Amino acid sequence: MKTEFSSRLGLIAATVGSAVGLGNIWRFPAETQENGGGAFLLVYIICVFLLGIPMMMAEFSIGRAGRTDAVGSFHRLAPGKKWWLIGIIGIVASYTVLSFYMVVSGWTLEYFFQSLTGNLYTQVDGVAAGSESFKAHMNDYVLTDWNPILFTAIMLVINIAILLGGVRKGIERIANILMPLLFLLLIVFAVVSLSLPNASQGVEYFLAPDFSSITPRVVINALGQAFFSLSLGLGALITYGSYFPAKVKLGPTACTVALLDMLVAILMGLIIFPAVVSFNLTDEAMAGTTLIFVTLPEVFTHLPLPRLWSSLFFLSLCVAAITSTVSLGEVTISLLIDRFKMKRRTATFAAMVPLFILSMACSLSMTGVDRLSIGGMNLFDFFDNLSTNILLPAGTLLVCIFLRLGVPREFLQREFSNNGTIKAVYNRAAAFSVHYIAPWLILLILISPLL
Ligand code: PHE
Repeated sequence: MKTEFSSRLGLIAATVGSAVGLGNIWRFPAETQENGGGAFLLVYIICVFLLGIPMMMAEFSIGRAGRTDAVGSFHRLAPGKKWWLIGIIGIVASYTVLSFYMVVSGWTLEYFFQSLTGNLYTQVDGVAAGSESFKAHMNDYVLTDWNPILFTAIMLVINIAILLGGVRKGIERIANILMPLLFLLLIVFAVVSLSLPNASQGVEYFLAPDFSSITPRVVINALGQAFFSLSLGLGALITYGSYFPAKVKLGPTACTVALLDMLVAILMGLIIFPAVVSFNLTDEAMAGTTLIFVTLPEVFTHLPLPRLWSSLFFLSLCVAAITSTVSLGEVTISLLIDRFKMKRRTATFAAMVPLFILSMACSLSMTGVDRLSIGGMNLFDFFDNLSTNILLPAGTLLVCIFLRLGVPREFLQREFSNNGTIKAVYNRAAAFSVHYIAPWLILLILISPLL
């Protein structure tokens, strides 16, 4: 019998685990900052409702109806056709994301460790205290050759250990424990941050949209962020959908997952922007990686017990990262188990061990190993850009095309309504979006660099 999640709560925890990740914590605040604050948030929320939730429901239904991995499900729903190639693109995309994502998750583990030991808070010789010192630490932890590789490898081993446990005893059980922990930690952080002096200015920046800053670029970036954050476009949700029992209501499930995912992104904004305003940190301090690895440690030094806050914060990042990387790994593992009839053990090692080499290459490419660059971009940035700007939107577009041409038009209605037993307008609205709105908007993102 096909493996299924054991409970509705476990199913939600696992899927939220996939969605909530470094995308919410590391990428979202930086994207918000670069794209005009509140305006970006507003467009992002619209994208989630208009495209994100319907596309999640669509991916779930392909997996649940196919009842097998992300390649096999296309095969089963459209036998004798080449649509399964969409699943293969998903596998490629999942490796592309995993290879740089695992490196960043290694950094979070290293920062957790260095916060616990207190090394992160020791003054580096020869540089000024404060941000200069944290920058020097970042160079040491992230930009040296072997250090980050060691922590990436540890993260990989943790992933393998969870994935060996399988869907119920590995993925679901770990999500049931880690997700509530993550929410708790983030709520505590938001309360601390909101009680800092001048916090309200940061909140205003984050929540009050300045409509004049909405440009086509902002819309495109918000859409890209929504796909990445909701784990769309590479087969992860098809794979998890194949573990859904037949009676699961796809609409409410997708809504719950998307709302919780959005909640984490918003909590992150409420943590970061008040803190940055309150301590008068500059714009430069807000840029991507610096934000998490330099600015926040500096913020912690202004609080009592910085090492404790810092350890808890980086622990929550590790937690968020792990439940996302296991979902990415599971895409290939389920293919190896279902299609190639491998045992879970063999499949897990076969899928995850090669990743070490890819991640190592990504990590080394950041430290200036020149041969590891493509088109003037280091491998890490290349994989990041390739996946978010091309592979994920392209994967989602192909899913839309498949649902219009590869299966009967009623397929979605039937799946969304569990064979006509759930009558709800949102099912029709979601199917309409998948058939008529999503493909055009996604096409627009894909061709936008050419315009
Ligand atoms: N959604 C995850 C995050 O926000 C990343 C991810 C993308 C996971 C695609 C699985 C599939 O960090």
